[in-house]
Amino acid sequence: MALNDRFLKACRREQVDCTPVWFMRQAGRYMAEYRAIRAKHTLLEICAQPELAAEVTLQPVHALGVDAAILFADILLPLMPMGIHLEFAKGEGPVIHNPIGSRADVETLRVIDPCEELAHVLEAVKLVRRELDGKTPLIGFAGAPFTLASYIIEGGSSRNFIKTKQLMYRDSQVWHALMSKLAQVIATYLVAQIEAGAQAVQLFDSWVGVLSPTDYREFVLPHSQVILQTVKASGVPAIHFGTDTATLLPLLTEAGGDVIGLDWRIDLDRGWETIGFDRAVQGNLDPVALFAPRDELERRVRRILDQAAKRPGHIFNLGHGILQETPVENVKAVVEMVHEFSQR
Ligand code: CP3
Repeated sequence: MALNDRFLKACRREQVDCTPVWFMRQAGRYMAEYRAIRAKHTLLEICAQPELAAEVTLQPVHALGVDAAILFADILLPLMPMGIHLEFAKGEGPVIHNPIGSRADVETLRVIDPCEELAHVLEAVKLVRRELDGKTPLIGFAGAPFTLASYIIEGGSSRNFIKTKQLMYRDSQVWHALMSKLAQVIATYLVAQIEAGAQAVQLFDSWVGVLSPTDYREFVLPHSQVILQTVKASGVPAIHFGTDTATLLPLLTEAGGDVIGLDWRIDLDRGWETIGFDRAVQGNLDPVALFAPRDELERRVRRILDQAAKRPGHIFNLGHGILQETPVENVKAVVEMVHEFSQR
């Protein structure tokens, strides 16, 4: 396989031979190869063992021909050495046994050194880089402070984020103390991943779309901005991702990122215009389009490429992660369609 740098070129809005494509959650339970490893190990075991994490990271690169690898890890991993008791309960998603709700709770959280406490993740980065041998770029990632705060305040996944917003509205000082602790850890964690070899990083603010623009500006923007400014100084591209962000796009752009994520709830051309054509964008296929008949899937892929109009700086992706029931042959077909239909 020849060196493939179209993903990194698109992050920098340089000319590409065709549009790069990768998928959020491209390694996971929709793939038989992943299920085979998961039958023998828990999610946290895979994340804790660099050889397993590296193997799973490479599975979709080999099976799908995507233009980037994303490190196999989880956004919640850094919370464990900070003092959060995390478990992935079967069929329930993440469960946190000691949720944070008060100033005293926030004070117990440790500001960790990722080089010490997350050394296994950094080792996985090094292993993947060695195995990819420069042929496919590797993306590192972390959760953004709001999305991480929501898990540690709610004690797990949430629908209405009541406890999270309650803390924000009741005691803004405690809120900001929690957010700045998280931002400090995440910034050093991303820099450590870059130093270990990550060639781009993605900041996942998956649930930030539950906020109004006014609340985003006051309670979130300054903290995400600290992280994205720190990453900018390291010189590798940063992708700033959220969902349900149609009305937040100008503020996400202001917070930072070389590439801004677009989910499917806004047309790509309108979203990109709002962000500004001087930034790159990533998205925006509905993950459920992968369940459509092949000709309908093709129409939807073409529509996104038409809206991107071969402007420099489009990375094809879903608007959110691949769902567990997704037919793998449709994922593979999208990679082929994007490459074929977008030839320059
Ligand atoms: O994209 C990749 O292939 C890399 C791996 C990756 C995982 N989690 C592995 C994982 C990435 C990038 C994440 C990020 C992540 N984790 C996010 C942000 C992205 C998003 O989807 O919004 C969030 C919110 C989490 C938290 C999390 N981890 C939840 C809510 C769950 C349970 C939900 C579920 O799908 O079961 C997880 C578990 C998790 N992390 C799985 C995988 C592949 C499911 C797997 C398993 O049990 O094997």
